[in-house]
Amino acid sequence: MKLKLAVLASGRGSNLATFIKLAQQGRLEADIVLVLSNNPAAPALELASRAGLATWSADHRSYPSRESFDQSMLEAIARAGADTVALAGYMRILSAPFIQAFPGRILNIHPALLPAFPGGRSVRDAVDYGARLSGCSVHFVDEKMDNGPLIIQAAVPLFNEEQQDDEASLHARIQEYEHRVYPQALQWLAEGRLRLEGRKVRLLPRPAGGAAPAASVVAGGPALVCPPLEKF
Ligand code: GRF
Repeated sequence: MKLKLAVLASGRGSNLATFIKLAQQGRLEADIVLVLSNNPAAPALELASRAGLATWSADHRSYPSRESFDQSMLEAIARAGADTVALAGYMRILSAPFIQAFPGRILNIHPALLPAFPGGRSVRDAVDYGARLSGCSVHFVDEKMDNGPLIIQAAVPLFNEEQQDDEASLHARIQEYEHRVYPQALQWLAEGRLRLEGRKVRLLPRPAGGAAPAASVVAGGPALVCPPLEKF
């Protein structure tokens, strides 16, 4: 069923831009009903307004507590009628009441292969560590940071013979895959094919006639994506 999506973003919004494009093309079954930010200057808001989407923003520092700020967001989301929340570069921890308001319906993307390199500087951490693989993870959000059940991951190599990575170069390569795995996860949710079993996520089979999965190793890129991308 088509998602009624609220997107939370604090920054640039390249994932949001991808959702907007794919939803407009009818490839992602989602209506983006509201874009919210804790940063009224976020480029993501500008991008949303230019696409004609409703926005809500407030500076979280003007609220007495995390809970009161989140409560305002919940009210705005309820008014917009959203049934699903996608965190797309939202740089704040959500309070328990917010998370409990959307059981199994809040997704996040993290720019590392969780559980490696959680936290806000994961791309730099992977480079500094000398990791040979990093990537991105889409997961359900629970009350611990970067912890919830994993839906899809893409592994991106770094420090190849040909390339010496820094944070910017690795992040750019990771983001190419973010823009594929995140819409894919949302599309699976829209298709009702993600089943939570404890902390494991089972991807239910596609209906007869659905798009065939691509190869595990994605053409045109060195990443390994699991489960394989079907559409994006
Ligand atoms: C992405 O790298 C995402 O994984 C992380 O924040 C970044 C947001 O990028 N959570 P953008 O604002 O969508 O371009």
